[in-house]
Amino acid sequence: MTGPVGGVIGWPVEHSRSPVVHGYWLRHHGLPGAYRKFAVPPGEVAEFLDRIRTGELTGVNVTVPHKEAAFAAVRRHHPAALATGTVNTVWVEDGELTGTSTDPEGFLANLDAASPGWDARAGKAVLLGAGGAARALAWALSTRGIGEILIVNRTLARAEALIADLGLAATPVAWQDREAALAGAGCVVNATSLGMSGQGMLDVGLANVADNAVVNDIVYTPLETPLLAEARARGFVAIDGLGMLLHQAVFGFEKMFGLRPEVTDDLRRAVLDDMAAG
Ligand code: ATR
Repeated sequence: MTGPVGGVIGWPVEHSRSPVVHGYWLRHHGLPGAYRKFAVPPGEVAEFLDRIRTGELTGVNVTVPHKEAAFAAVRRHHPAALATGTVNTVWVEDGELTGTSTDPEGFLANLDAASPGWDARAGKAVLLGAGGAARALAWALSTRGIGEILIVNRTLARAEALIADLGLAATPVAWQDREAALAGAGCVVNATSLGMSGQGMLDVGLANVADNAVVNDIVYTPLETPLLAEARARGFVAIDGLGMLLHQAVFGFEKMFGLRPEVTDDLRRAVLDDMAAG
């Protein structure tokens, strides 16, 4: 097939769902081009990314363990890349190899789609976790003018370091104080690995969050985590992590194939079918 060629690099890369998402959009829009998986060994990332600069590829997504190496390899960094220290999307802009992290945009777009105006209503946002994933989300939350942002983490020093690194107007909270932190929160986000299949349980209760709260879990295996099940049972807006995975792909598709695609229920079903198939 002729047309632009994009893809995803990782090591290993077989597990990546990105080809399902981009393949769906290519078919849906009847676009020429291809989206491939590229297994790139550590140490060969910069050399591989040069294939974008030379025009052989129009861009790539980057998955583990290459997001830091991609950050180091690109010449230009969008603000989200600088904030997260990672690059998950690479393309050429004004002749220069350019990178960003689409996680902040994907996270916010997922919440915007599920609950328009959530940010204006939130008042207080509580982020659980201070690891790599939480970093992107903390920065994203800070761009929305939310009154108060609390970052709760088992290792308090990690929450403090994240806030200092990003220069955020946020408050670090110790893990044992999580219930108090949640009181009155209009936005609750789990960015820990707890609740994921094979990991521990996330032991937090939502009894005291605000009536109109949005509750988001970035874990999507399982899709309905215990946190989201409780949120739903209490009548809150429960937003699963699969939406972020889909929304964060939009930017890269536009860079690689020239059209801004939409995240639809049909796309979601296609990805869920693929996940069910193993
Ligand atoms: P990722 O890149 O997915 O964010 P990570 O950087 O290892 O992965 O971060 C995992 C997050 O889950 C961290 O916030 C971690 O807390 P610590 O910083 O204290 O390690 C949190 N986490 C993992 N297991 C946990 C547990 N049993 N209880 C509380 N938090 C936990």
